[in-house]
Amino acid sequence: MTLAGTAPLGPHTVHRMGYGAMQLAGPGVFGPPRDRDEALAVLVAVRDAGVDHIDTSQYYGPDVVNGLLREALHPFDGITLVSKVGARRDATGGWLPWNQPDELRQGIEDNLQALDVPRLGAVNLRVMPDDPVDLFEKQLAAMVQARDEGLIEAVGISNVSREQFDLAVDEIACVQNPYNLVDRSSQSILEACADRGIAFVPFFPLGSGFGINDVRGQRSVVQTSERLGITPSQVALAWTLAQSPTVLLIPGTSSRTHLAENLAAAEISLDAEALGLLS
Ligand SMILES: NC(=O)c1ccc[n+]([C@@H]2O[C@H](COP(=O)([O-])OP(=O)(O)OC[C@H]3O[C@@H](n4cnc5c(N)ncnc54)[C@H](OP(=O)(O)O)[C@@H]3O)[C@@H](O)[C@H]2O)c1
Repeated sequence: MTLAGTAPLGPHTVHRMGYGAMQLAGPGVFGPPRDRDEALAVLVAVRDAGVDHIDTSQYYGPDVVNGLLREALHPFDGITLVSKVGARRDATGGWLPWNQPDELRQGIEDNLQALDVPRLGAVNLRVMPDDPVDLFEKQLAAMVQARDEGLIEAVGISNVSREQFDLAVDEIACVQNPYNLVDRSSQSILEACADRGIAFVPFFPLGSGFGINDVRGQRSVVQTSERLGITPSQVALAWTLAQSPTVLLIPGTSSRTHLAENLAAAEISLDAEALGLLS
């Protein structure tokens, strides 16, 4: 499997088809997985397929997904691990900001400890919509310092506006924003990333596990799926890959069946009729 060729991710070159590990936690990304053995088997299948880019976070579970990753894949030979900081969970699974510069630093160190690695390939600074500019500048400085000290190899940003992207652009190697066939609100950031050779790593490429966008149910997706004899998920993933050479995919799944289906999408080139209909 070619896994859609390769593209840069900071100092690494990774396959454009990666894996997002968030779905391995329990319902609501909280607590242990519904099926622990399957979660571990998914991770082994990810590695065995040659996937070399895995997205995670200490706050998935919390600690659950990083624990599964360590159990299944440590010492992560040949795999670029990417995490994110800026939030934490409360005792019932609520999501809280944890985004002051010292908290970001602690978040990076928590990931390193949980994964038992000396450094991470990249860490994304997850911002909040109402973060003021002066906080964003201090957050970014904390991430750059962690990179300069060797805790992380590259800085990423996540959930950012175009203004925040423009402020950070000289320091970053990757951007994680929501993007899929239905939600193209980050189109200008995707294009700016392509212009600058920055990885654009869309989350929710399948519309999310929270039912946020019904990507698979779109009429154009269903029609294309039926005409080409591929699944709606494969249509969505192949379309997203086609949007720019610096798009790196991290579709999330807790199932080996879905994983195989998603990885196979990397081998699909949509024809002009499909791209026209879907655009
Ligand atoms: N930076 C951020 O703020 C941020 C936010 C959210 C997510 N992320 C990252 O982005 C990754 C991707 O996002 P996501 O997992 O939330 O959403 P997603 O990839 O759009 O969709 C995941 C959902 O689709 C289902 N699914 C996956 N493959 C399928 C298939 N072939 N057929 C049918 N259903 C399928 C999954 O269920 P099954 O488990 O049953 O397959 C799950 O419910 C995450 O894993 C995480 O690493 C980052």
